[in-house]
Amino acid sequence: MDFSTKKGAPEKHKTGCVVVGIHADAQPSAAAAAIDKACGGQVSRILKQGDMDGDAGSALLLHKLPGVAAERVLLVGLGRQAEVGEKDYLSALSATFKRLGETGARDAHLCLTEIGVLGRDAGWRIEQAVLAAAAASYRFDRLKSKPKTGGNKLHQLTLSPGDDGRPGNDAVARGNAIAAGVRLAKDLGNLPPNVCTPSYLADQARELAKEHKLKIEVLEREDMEKLGMGALLSVTRGSRQPPKFIVIRHRGGDRKRKPVVLVGKGITFDTGGISLKPGDAMDEMKYDMCGAASVLGTMQAVALLDLPLNVIGVVPTCENMPDGNASRPGDIVTSLSGQTVEILNTDAEGRLILCDALTYCERFEPAAVVDIATLTGACVIALGSHASGLFSNNDVLAQEILDAGVEAWDRAWRMPLWADYQEQLKSNFADMANIGGRPAGSITAACFLSRFARKFHWAHLDIAGTAWKSGAEKGSTGRPVGLLTHFLVRRAEGD
Ligand code: BES
Ligand code: MN
Ligand code: ZN
Repeated sequence: MDFSTKKGAPEKHKTGCVVVGIHADAQPSAAAAAIDKACGGQVSRILKQGDMDGDAGSALLLHKLPGVAAERVLLVGLGRQAEVGEKDYLSALSATFKRLGETGARDAHLCLTEIGVLGRDAGWRIEQAVLAAAAASYRFDRLKSKPKTGGNKLHQLTLSPGDDGRPGNDAVARGNAIAAGVRLAKDLGNLPPNVCTPSYLADQARELAKEHKLKIEVLEREDMEKLGMGALLSVTRGSRQPPKFIVIRHRGGDRKRKPVVLVGKGITFDTGGISLKPGDAMDEMKYDMCGAASVLGTMQAVALLDLPLNVIGVVPTCENMPDGNASRPGDIVTSLSGQTVEILNTDAEGRLILCDALTYCERFEPAAVVDIATLTGACVIALGSHASGLFSNNDVLAQEILDAGVEAWDRAWRMPLWADYQEQLKSNFADMANIGGRPAGSITAACFLSRFARKFHWAHLDIAGTAWKSGAEKGSTGRPVGLLTHFLVRRAEGD
């Protein structure tokens, strides 16, 4: 879809549909009032009849109003005037694009971006509009033998730039870049595990690199053996798929600038291994590579925005399968750091591939390392699907990430990493165990990782609850590409 900002009176836009807001109690917004005036009071008559109350998320489509250049007018509810909050605004956007997608309109103009949203500027409103339009038009039907024809016809969207003087074009560009990254992350997540293998991820990363002139290197099993990535290699033992270790770089900053490194968990399918998972919803463990997908999606967004910053994406990827050659509970392995790990549960495999990836990051002398992982079911219990779990050994970095999450509306919530929890990882036979028991499962997982991140500023995002949706709407969300992109945009500004 093509996005741009466009000024002008609402009634004068020659377009398939002009979208205006209605506040609660059927109060027209400024744009709706302008349309009403141009058409001789038709809109207020409809409002008076009670056909549209202005509740957030409601929508009413009108055709061919006299004196209005657009073929259609879509009235969208915004909720209470003095207090349009983020949630109201976002539900108005999703109602807009759902309804627009059901029409034949090929282009549209959105006036909703003029609406004041508590605590938010025009840049945010525009970015969110672009993201909502992209989300509404997302389909994953390439594996259906007869993909639905028709569908969303909307190809071009113009947006009112808003009145607080901030250039809307930056916001459109940012929204576009994030939307592209989210799309890539969603596609990779939604692909089935017999297609999206470690080799497939490596190939996709190579394509991404080619398209955006990024540097790429893929380490093979032998390379990992030579390096001594014993923890990572223990996870892949049961799989027929060769493991890959992807390193993809965007060099946008001065050569001497230290890079920000993003590390994504890339388990393309997690059966649990010998500590086999129960069968229920096991298909969803194809999403266990969503951390990896978010890293590749963010690399794409960073490249599209050509951020003046050095960013490295690191993706350790393999499959966790049971097999005669698979790791057993009780096995002890030596990680790249030299620390030994007793594998008490082969289903706690994410931390095993990530610990070696974190140690590998030391060679980059990073400014910061952020890992992103569908790491623990316990994080879903703690935070549900609204916030990603954030853990960090550095308060400044943690705050940057929290702020980026709020800005992108892709929020995280900080959890403790107190030394007290480290005791749960004690092993009688190795330097540590790979599990810490049921209490505080997402914290002990992060504590495990922290032991491999002592040499740099590090943050860990547990996205087990946010990376995909279950149920009727099953599908990847593309999170946290928005958060990560905002974090890097800010870093680039401060660099
Ligand atoms: N990939 C899973 C975490 C997960 C489970 C994410 C369910 C989303 C939904 C991870 O590898 C895992 O299996 N973790 C175990 C750890 C446990 C064995 C300590 C878990 O959360 O049960
Ligand atoms: Mn697991
Ligand atoms: Zn896993």
